[in-house]
Amino acid sequence: MNNLYFQNKKILITAGPTYEKLDPVRFIGNFSTGKMGFALAKTFAENGAEVVLIAGPTCLTIEHPNIQLIAVVSAIEMRDEALKFFSNSDIAVMSAAVADYRPKSFSESKIKKKEDELTIELVKNPDIFKTLGEQKSKHQILIGFALETNNELENARKKLADKNGDAIILNSLNDNGAGFKYDTNKISIILKNGLIFEYSLKTKNEVAQDILQCISDNF
Ligand code: C5P
Repeated sequence: MNNLYFQNKKILITAGPTYEKLDPVRFIGNFSTGKMGFALAKTFAENGAEVVLIAGPTCLTIEHPNIQLIAVVSAIEMRDEALKFFSNSDIAVMSAAVADYRPKSFSESKIKKKEDELTIELVKNPDIFKTLGEQKSKHQILIGFALETNNELENARKKLADKNGDAIILNSLNDNGAGFKYDTNKISIILKNGLIFEYSLKTKNEVAQDILQCISDNF
């Protein structure tokens, strides 16, 4: 695939999980591996785009002259980095599994075990996709992901509208081999204008190619 549409385009990608620290040795996180976001970064770069890849903690590595990898840990750090680069981006793809909440306070020393029950207070994290959606200008394309377990299409459409995105990529946990941990994914792409494109189960590299093709065909 060599799609001239992406030549010299500036792409911002968020990928992987975020870790929200409780104390020096513990965090709240999730099972995202970052594979989908890294596959997207590689595919955009191979098609001539300049990519900023903001990644939460992951064991993946990537080296390409067109990819600037920025490693972050928490949602706040990911939001701050995304805001630095967004205004200069043509396309932003939010593939990170951002933790919805973070601990209200951070304990400088390791939390000791005492009582049988421990309650941790959480506060809401910023929604990076929504924040960028509020700042988006006409020429920018903002794309997000939705991982749904029920009322998938309806929830994905609502998310797309709420966050002011241009497209949302739905991957269902109901599909075998799709989502976290797997090297494969099964997606549907829903555009702001209501068009829906459905794809079969593919490797994440192939899925990334489908996503780029869909962008260049429709925007
Ligand atoms: O609302 P939900 O978490 O299901 O939305 C998923 C989409 O929003 C993904 O594209 C994800 O990267 C993005 N998101 C974000 N910041 C958050 C939560 C989700 O950018 N705090």
